[in-house]
Amino acid sequence: KWKQTFRRKLLAWYAKHERDLPWRRSSDPYRVWVSEVMLQQTQVETVKAYFQRFMKAFPTVRKLAAADEQQVLLLWEGLGYYRRARGLHAAAKVIVEEHGGKFPSDVHTLMKLPGIGRYTAGAIVSIAFDKPAPILEANTIRLFARLVGYREDPTKSAGQKVLWATAEKLLPKKNVARFNQALMELGSLVCKPAMPMCSECPAKSVCETNRLGLQAEIPASKKK
Ligand code: ADE
Repeated sequence: KWKQTFRRKLLAWYAKHERDLPWRRSSDPYRVWVSEVMLQQTQVETVKAYFQRFMKAFPTVRKLAAADEQQVLLLWEGLGYYRRARGLHAAAKVIVEEHGGKFPSDVHTLMKLPGIGRYTAGAIVSIAFDKPAPILEANTIRLFARLVGYREDPTKSAGQKVLWATAEKLLPKKNVARFNQALMELGSLVCKPAMPMCSECPAKSVCETNRLGLQAEIPASKKK
């Protein structure tokens, strides 16, 4: 029953190591959404200040929908990947106009919104609504690839298929919000790209990469 062992140890670890981050203080789907979009290509430390500023300017999805695009882009300045900001603004309008300002709580409906892919939809459903939905992003790609000992390039479509299936298989029915955030926290703080801190890892006893000593080889880098 290594799955149960993994879940139990991960949650116990997270209870001790959870960082106090601005977007973790509420489960408002709007806040979860904005933070996850910012975190897609930007480091946690950078996102903190941008997130606070954005929430001050646009505290609700209705305020964001009513803003003009230039104002949204101005607040995004420095984060880069401006498509993300345009997607947020466009999706906010759809949420207000077609969903009465209320966030859909299922992956399928969320994925129809501009800029919301499988990861962002899964993050909103699990973190804001605490409903089972798998997530897969940079931190968890690395964590799952190591956990199951996946040796090919995990960013290719074959790898994505294996790792989404792993995310799905490990997903608990309860406490999904904490479970998914704990996965990202473990990937970020312990299962680091270079020199992961395996001796401190709650998953060391069930991790295939740790068993084989292949930390330097997994995840495989992109072939050129
Ligand atoms: N990276 C992406 N989403 C994150 C989150 N919710 N917490 C920490 N790091 C993340």
